[in-house]
Amino acid sequence: MRLIKLWIAAIMLVGSSIAGAADGVAILNAQCSDCHNLTGPAPATLQELWSRKGPDLFYAGNKYKAAWLEAWLQKPVRIRPAGMFFADHVKPGADGDEIDAATLTAHPALFAPESNAVTAALMALKGNPDLITGGAYTQGNLSLSSGEMLFDKFKGCLACHEIEPGYGGLSGPEVFTAAQRLQEDWLVSFLRNPHAWDPMVFMPNKHLNDADIRKIIDYFRLLSEEVAQ
Ligand code: HEC
Ligand code: HEC
Repeated sequence: MRLIKLWIAAIMLVGSSIAGAADGVAILNAQCSDCHNLTGPAPATLQELWSRKGPDLFYAGNKYKAAWLEAWLQKPVRIRPAGMFFADHVKPGADGDEIDAATLTAHPALFAPESNAVTAALMALKGNPDLITGGAYTQGNLSLSSGEMLFDKFKGCLACHEIEPGYGGLSGPEVFTAAQRLQEDWLVSFLRNPHAWDPMVFMPNKHLNDADIRKIIDYFRLLSEEVAQ
């Protein structure tokens, strides 16, 4: 019995030292590059856009928060309610379009040591550095209701983005987790000019001014605080 326990301990030690040496770049190239663009540039034609299987990751280090990446890669949950291309995953229902869940596949998950290594490799991908200004966002004090007025009534963002599970448009990523996922400096830059990051993105440039951009980022923070409760 004692011997078996020793053996198990020895095997676990070997296992963890192999995992400890997980090579994030090698995992990205072997397991992720079929679906994700790791080198840039972003799709510049409709054909390239249609062949995109997952979000571009060549500027991951300028876009995502590392803590979120590391956790999500171990337990991926859906961010775009209808996948990459809305039209591929909706069917007509009694109350308008419904998501055809059977056509959506689960994202591959990583174990903790691999996720840690892959997160480090992703955070080193710093595409489009010239579009980022460090410290571009400073927190304001907005109320949830004025944030929603801006996001829905004034700017029409709700048509494509969910502000809570099951409420909002289905063609873009949910925004109630945006504050956990996305760096504020990236949000400032993307909201100012989405097409500088992703020339073919199906998101209109609403020409938000600096005050609106700050309010929208404040709003995302308030939304994520609400969802976390
Ligand atoms: C079969 C295609 C496929 C493979 C393989 C794949 N992904 Fe993804 N990935 C996707 C899709 C599709 C999404 C969008 C998921 C969503 O919105 O719910 C996604 C989302 C992501 C996101 C979140 C990005 C964002 O902006 O929402 C990260 C990070 C990510 N993948 C990393 C990885 C890593 C690391 C690997 C390799 C270990 C990998 N993916 C393998 C298709 C894939
Ligand atoms: C016509 C639909 C549409 C409208 C209207 C729209 N968006 Fe988007 N938005 C998108 C799509 C599509 C994406 C990118 C999808 C992707 O990365 O796969 C996106 C991406 C985003 C992202 C990045 C999210 C992420 O997780 O990567 C933010 C933030 C965002 N939009 C905010 C807004 C705001 C604020 C407004 C209103 C001013 C708005 N959107 C209006 C469709 C829309």
